Amino acid sequence: MDKELALKEILEKTLSDLGLNVSIKLEKPADEKFGDLSSNLAMSAYEQVKEEFNSPRDFALSLVQKIKANDLAKIIEEISVAGPGFINFKLNDSYLLENLKQIIQNKNLELKNFGQGKKAIVEYSSPNIAKPFTIGHLRSTIIGDSVANLLEASGHEVFRDNHLGDWGTQFGKQIVAIKKWGNEEEISQSANPVEKLVALYVKFHEEAEKNPELEDEARAWFKKLENGDEEARALWQKCIDWSFIEFAKIYQALGVSFTENNGRGYGESFFEEMLQPLIEELKKQGIAKTGEEGAVLIFYPNDELSPLMIAKKDGSTLYATRDLATDKWRRENPLYQNADGSAPLVINEVGGEQTFYFQQIYRAEELLGWYEKGQRVHVKHGLYRFKEGKMSTRKGNVIWLEEVLNKAKEKAMAFTKDEAIAETVSIAALKWNDLKRKSEININFDWEEIINLQGNSGPYMLYAYARAKSILRKASENETKQNESSNFEISPLEKSLLSSLDEFSKVVARSASEFSPHYLCTYLFDLAQLFNSFYNKYPILNSSLERQFRLQLVEAVSITLSKGLALLGIKTLEKM
Ligand code: ARG
Repeated sequence: MDKELALKEILEKTLSDLGLNVSIKLEKPADEKFGDLSSNLAMSAYEQVKEEFNSPRDFALSLVQKIKANDLAKIIEEISVAGPGFINFKLNDSYLLENLKQIIQNKNLELKNFGQGKKAIVEYSSPNIAKPFTIGHLRSTIIGDSVANLLEASGHEVFRDNHLGDWGTQFGKQIVAIKKWGNEEEISQSANPVEKLVALYVKFHEEAEKNPELEDEARAWFKKLENGDEEARALWQKCIDWSFIEFAKIYQALGVSFTENNGRGYGESFFEEMLQPLIEELKKQGIAKTGEEGAVLIFYPNDELSPLMIAKKDGSTLYATRDLATDKWRRENPLYQNADGSAPLVINEVGGEQTFYFQQIYRAEELLGWYEKGQRVHVKHGLYRFKEGKMSTRKGNVIWLEEVLNKAKEKAMAFTKDEAIAETVSIAALKWNDLKRKSEININFDWEEIINLQGNSGPYMLYAYARAKSILRKASENETKQNESSNFEISPLEKSLLSSLDEFSKVVARSASEFSPHYLCTYLFDLAQLFNSFYNKYPILNSSLERQFRLQLVEAVSITLSKGLALLGIKTLEKM
């Protein structure tokens, strides 16, 4: 257990023995000479005991004795009172050493299991059929996958869903375009069918400028699709299958998968039959009303949000209608309910540009009583900005993901001749770049930063791990007969490394509970940097008394890095 948590438990016990009730905060003192951790609890509890003590400081002094008595595992080495009543703790090295052993025995991922017994649906990626898989979808895939991993690590039962954009009036246009100008044979044979579909879709719009009747044709085809017309359904299904040729390649390269609907995810079309009944229900409940122009909208109390349209005047449904139907179905499906029947946590990993839209959706779902505050979460990602000219746009204005993946691999080949290694490095580089900062920040996409062995990058992280593994391999090749010795001083740098290792589970818990993988990245990067300084400063294999201890440190670092990177969805390499 991490030391802070262990100390907190001792303090909680001490206070509850005294019948006092305060929330305990532990801080790292700015100056190391005040110890490892410090608390102002004597000051904040003083109100409750001021009859008995003259000052918070007096109270702190008396608490010290009781805390010592409760420290059965002897994790505190020194305890002192400073200033107006701060209590400072210096923790025992032997406690940190014990923790080191536990990491090596693989027992350390003791998260605060706040997710135990709870269910969570994490919805991510969600590309659109017959459209390019964009950088935004890439971000959603990477971030969503990591959030799902983190929630799983915290005890949740996690359902991984992909809300494919596979329904909507655009399919009427797509069908018309395929029938008029497309060649199914050719699309099927193409290495990138989506590219062909996009070209056809673009052509539809060009032609429709000249010949507006095409729009009517498209509407008619979408109607047919809705009514289950065989030809329309078959073409639509082909669009899905063609798109999945591309999506599957991307998911495979990223090592990402989904659990729902046999790994495909429940796309918008799955909810089609639930849409009209939903609209009726919302009208009956008075939450939705038919507006002046004949469209149906959700109106919010006191106009706190602008109205949300759920049916157009011609009766056709929208993106929002399908989202509401999705969430109602999720809420009612026993598979997703917690044991007590309560709603699961439902997370949408979607670009920040849809923030207002999701506010409308979540608020509507609250008003309907489906979900409570906090059960619906929008994990947002920011935009990627590309430096002009750096990314080829010869295929039009879109950035094709395949190009990005290929380019990343090409760049990673600078480090290695091995294709498989380059592939792993390139994916790690892209993922790390996406995860290392708060997800909603917009970032400049910069290859120099992404594929870089020196800086805060995926390759740097993989390299630190591979270096640790190489030390361990060498150690096992030439084992010495030395006995374990404890007759040496642990240096401050080594102590920092020990403390850092001790913080892993706390950081994972924070990343999970705030749906923010970047905390974990920051932590892992700090750990890797500490490890590199340690490695550069001290002999490991050639040290005498310290050899065992230092090798244990290296091993614990390698275990922690690999567990952490796995939670980010990043595969490690034993050698680079
Ligand atoms: N397909 C949508 C898009 O590409 C994203 C879907 C996000 N999820 C949702 N439940 N609306 O913009």
